[in-house]
Amino acid sequence: MRLANKLAIVTAAASGMGRAGVELFLREGASVCAVDINTDALAALKAEVDPRDGRLHTVQADLSTAEGARDSIHAAAEKLGGVDVLWAHAGIPGPGGIEGLDVAEYQLAFALNVQSAAFGAGEVISHMRKRGGGSIVFTASVSGMVGSMWSPVYSSCKFAVVGLTKSLAQTFAPDKVRVNVVCPGLAETPMKVGFTGRGVSAEAAKAAEDKYVSGVPLGRLVRPEEVAQAVLWLASDDAGFVTGIELPVDGGFTCK
Ligand SMILES: NC(=O)c1ccc[n+]([C@@H]2O[C@H](COP(=O)([O-])OP(=O)(O)OC[C@H]3O[C@@H](n4cnc5c(N)ncnc54)[C@H](O)[C@@H]3O)[C@@H](O)[C@H]2O)c1
Repeated sequence: MRLANKLAIVTAAASGMGRAGVELFLREGASVCAVDINTDALAALKAEVDPRDGRLHTVQADLSTAEGARDSIHAAAEKLGGVDVLWAHAGIPGPGGIEGLDVAEYQLAFALNVQSAAFGAGEVISHMRKRGGGSIVFTASVSGMVGSMWSPVYSSCKFAVVGLTKSLAQTFAPDKVRVNVVCPGLAETPMKVGFTGRGVSAEAAKAAEDKYVSGVPLGRLVRPEEVAQAVLWLASDDAGFVTGIELPVDGGFTCK
């Protein structure tokens, strides 16, 4: 088991890729604290995947606020008894176009995609120091590696997360804390329509998805489990000399 006896926090954990990560980390032997805003979805997660041996914990928090991002780390650390791994996965598509931007929507996009990652890392480092090291994995996107025609604000946020990764990899190296970022392509999760379906018909959303897939050499969307597997590797000691990388899980979308 690749995370035996590890203590792991996963944010945005009640759905999609985060939930796949919770399930995989548990199977690989970790104790996991799932953090999410959605109380009902956290309860469903607990009911459906809890191995009932005390290894799955939950913390409800709004990670778009500084307090939520900070306090949830300490609440999770207390439940777990320490932290070895943080998968800071929270994010939202945010506004679509750039004309007539709504200030609140713009700020919420940066709050959840960037601020929650920065504040989470800033709080978790003290817990990882106590354990003698650790692994932080952020979630960016292919839109953090190449520009996005659909989502310029989202792309700005995700490039910021990649910058945070490369900076913190250097800052935290003396603490033996590795920092990496996973960059999924368009994924088969509820969030997908937030990218392809904003304000358009179901047919137009499907056409946008097909257009995206036509640019993916492996010819399909990424599955949540495939992203979780990449994060597992970055989180585990198998990637013990890997820090500061952006790892695309995109079927080749960004290699062209
Ligand atoms: N779905 C995609 O196509 C895709 C592609 C690349 C990157 N991403 C990134 O992956 C991450 C999540 O995507 P997903 O597809 O797994 O999502 P999802 O829609 O399946 O799940 C998102 C989770 O985030 C939670 N959440 C929403 N707002 C929150 C808040 N304020 N505080 C705490 N939790 C909150 C929701 O309750 C939900 O459980 C984001 O960072 C996103 O930018 C998604």
